Amino acid sequence: MNTSQINKQGRFIVFEGVEGVGKSTQVKLLAQWLESQGHNVITTREPGGTPLAESIRELVLTPRDEDMCSETELLLMMAARLQHWNGHIKPALERGDWIICDRFIDSSVAYQGAGRGMSEDFIRQIHHDIAPEMKPDLVLVLDLSLEDGWARVKSRGEALDRMEQASADFFVRARQCFKTAAALAPERYAMIDGAQSMDEVALAVQAQIQQRLQQNS
Ligand code: TMP
Repeated sequence: MNTSQINKQGRFIVFEGVEGVGKSTQVKLLAQWLESQGHNVITTREPGGTPLAESIRELVLTPRDEDMCSETELLLMMAARLQHWNGHIKPALERGDWIICDRFIDSSVAYQGAGRGMSEDFIRQIHHDIAPEMKPDLVLVLDLSLEDGWARVKSRGEALDRMEQASADFFVRARQCFKTAAALAPERYAMIDGAQSMDEVALAVQAQIQQRLQQNS
């Protein structure tokens, strides 16, 4: 593709998946690939992405003695998301930038919904009520067995954060929830096998972008 063919409309791409699937690596590789094609690319993450939203991230991820209610956890995730959307994602999309985000609303449905047992309808309703336009163009779900994912997390040698301290069943439900979301809306989701090598996953991601987002560029 040459730069004259590039569609200046911004695109919003999200990576999802449970711990250790390789999202952050793939966010970087996709950004490099899109930049090499002349796009302005912004990489970001949730919860986080603005100073205030990063402070909320610290609040929700820091282990503490006091139990956090599931509703509190959900509302903090949503508060961070709205701040991130209004302060960072929306202005960038309006400029025509491509946004690549590590996690978004599907993580709330998978973790606070399937994981913590809150109603998916309730979560989607809040999302809809606060800003219905917060919608990715494409969600790339990286899938990997929990054993392999946790082996990668442990190899980092870092202390587990508050979310990572959830039970194994919690992550089984969250992984299944991502898969179900992808199966139910194949026009907006792509499932990618995270057990492949880093380069193979990157190529599979690029193929999805070419097929779905660049065909009209
Ligand atoms: P990570 O970005 O390093 O994966 O850490 C973020 C953690 O927060 C991860 O365990 C998933 C969790 N999370 C939720 O529970 N709900 C959400 O809406 C988001 C965005 C993340």
